[in-house]
Amino acid sequence: MKKLMAAVLAGAMVLSFGMTAMAEDDNVLVMATNAEFPPYEFREGDEIVGIDAEVAGLIADKLGMELQIDDMAFDSVLAAVQSGKADIAMAGITVTEERKMSVNFTDTYTKATQMIIVAEDSEIQGPDDLEGKTIGVQLGTTGDIYVDDVPDASVERYNKGFEAVQALLQGKVDAVVIDGEPAKVFVSQNEGIKLLDEAFTEEEYAIAIAKDNDELLEKVNTALNELKDNGEFQKVVDKYISSDDAEEAETEAASEAETEAVTE
Ligand code: ARG
Repeated sequence: MKKLMAAVLAGAMVLSFGMTAMAEDDNVLVMATNAEFPPYEFREGDEIVGIDAEVAGLIADKLGMELQIDDMAFDSVLAAVQSGKADIAMAGITVTEERKMSVNFTDTYTKATQMIIVAEDSEIQGPDDLEGKTIGVQLGTTGDIYVDDVPDASVERYNKGFEAVQALLQGKVDAVVIDGEPAKVFVSQNEGIKLLDEAFTEEEYAIAIAKDNDELLEKVNTALNELKDNGEFQKVVDKYISSDDAEEAETEAASEAETEAVTE
């Protein structure tokens, strides 16, 4: 009975939305993202490029679908898959317990960290020094969520990560908390700011898919794991992240593994 209801409902949805809702189109994989996040998704002229954009393209290929990327505010990407406006959300999205309540996540594809950017001559040397400071973040990101725990800090929320960095350049905030890879890009593109060594938090990225769409979740996981196994995923990463950084990440991962082994 439940299945029948679902089928009737699904039929009604297709009828009512018809061709206008692309996420209902069998051959188009609609990806919600926020293309303000190099090297994962950013604009190059009219095009949205980056690790997520290219990996999603490869996943779509494997599914025999065409990728369509919808660029929106970061704090809308999960809602877009929940409402069915998009099939997947891929935007350097960190898996969190709270987000798991509203969407499903695929297997993770990247280890990430929230890092701290400060002015070159700043007295802030690590996470503990953020106490009482003004911190810039991108609205709705894990940076935004986690700085809430910093005692007496005041948080300035920006729509784009780069706007937070601009505020730092203008002396409007004392620090920016943002994902490590975009942080490196922003720091390399601007004079007078630096990245602190100590990470604020460790996290992992995954692709978000609607709760009721187990079929797509399984397909995307299969495709993602194939891309990891055959090296195509790494090839895309290497295209966007220099090997110096990759070595760093490897050493980090190795020392992490050691710590894990010790604590076990
Ligand atoms: N990893 C962080 C999070 O999930 C930030 C992601 C921001 N992504 C973006 N495309 N702007 O909250």
